[in-house]
Amino acid sequence: MSEMLVKNKEMNREKATEPIVSYRNVTKSFGDLNVLKGINLDIYPGEKIAVIGPSGSGKTTIIRMLMTLEEPSSGDIFVKDKNLWKMDKKGTWVRANEKHLADVRGDIGMVFQHFNLFPHMTILENCMSAPIHVKKENKDEVRERSIKMLERVGLGDKLEFYPSQLSGGQKQRVAMARALVMRPKIMLFDEVTSALDPELVGEVLEVIRDIAKNDDMAMVLVTHEMDFALDVADKVLFLDQGVIAEAGTANEVINDSKNERVQSFLKRFRTF
Ligand SMILES: Nc1ncnc2c1ncn2[C@@H]1O[C@H](COP(=O)(O)OP(=O)(O)OP(=O)(O)O)[C@@H](O)[C@H]1O
Ligand SMILES: [Mg+2]
Repeated sequence: MSEMLVKNKEMNREKATEPIVSYRNVTKSFGDLNVLKGINLDIYPGEKIAVIGPSGSGKTTIIRMLMTLEEPSSGDIFVKDKNLWKMDKKGTWVRANEKHLADVRGDIGMVFQHFNLFPHMTILENCMSAPIHVKKENKDEVRERSIKMLERVGLGDKLEFYPSQLSGGQKQRVAMARALVMRPKIMLFDEVTSALDPELVGEVLEVIRDIAKNDDMAMVLVTHEMDFALDVADKVLFLDQGVIAEAGTANEVINDSKNERVQSFLKRFRTF
């Protein structure tokens, strides 16, 4: 093999192990309240990360910044090689404008606790809206893909239903199909089962589990479902008072942590 070919191969290998998202010393304050105090985090292609921690520790804020719903107070978030919140203007870094934010967040999808569906659209229209209006994709192709996604989440027989005609679990599955239709490289889930009646939680977790096991997109899941995290997560982060206080494999953090804060947090979820 020529030297050049070897070099190219090595470069490709390096590329494959580059993070898709990197947080570097990211802080966030709301007024006097320092919510995040220096977050450093790499997310690799295909990686499944669960984020756990007490209420108010900053879990939602971390992922809202990546979805560009909240601006960091300092630090940088890179998506591939692009700085999410800053853009180069004639050689100086300036605050990103809406176009830059939209371009860079194109690879990112999010599912919220409270579904955030459009109430005046059918569930099929909900799924088709962003690819057509934001990404300007072909309508027939998007329709076909949306139907496939809705079938995948078990709602193929409800395409013309409106959100108000669905259960919470069904609405959440629509929200997932809608995010998936955009073909994100990374999906963010913020406690997507915590607003649901207990009997509806299982069906939603089952869909996420299916996505996690079969799709190669990266996923960040804020969750209180520890068994679920043990099952699907490659890595678990324990967030406490705005810092990542513990990180490791799901087993290391959930079953084996020596950290007292982790142990006392997890006690709440143990029934034994
Ligand atoms: N827009 C805002 N304005 C002021 N304070 C905010 C805002 N958003 C979040 N906070 C505060 O920041 C802290 C962290 O909030 P965040 O929602 O990230 O916590 P969380 O870990 O997701 O908590 P929970 O488990 O309850 O969802 C909280 O004290 C919250 O009140
Ligand atoms: Mg939250």
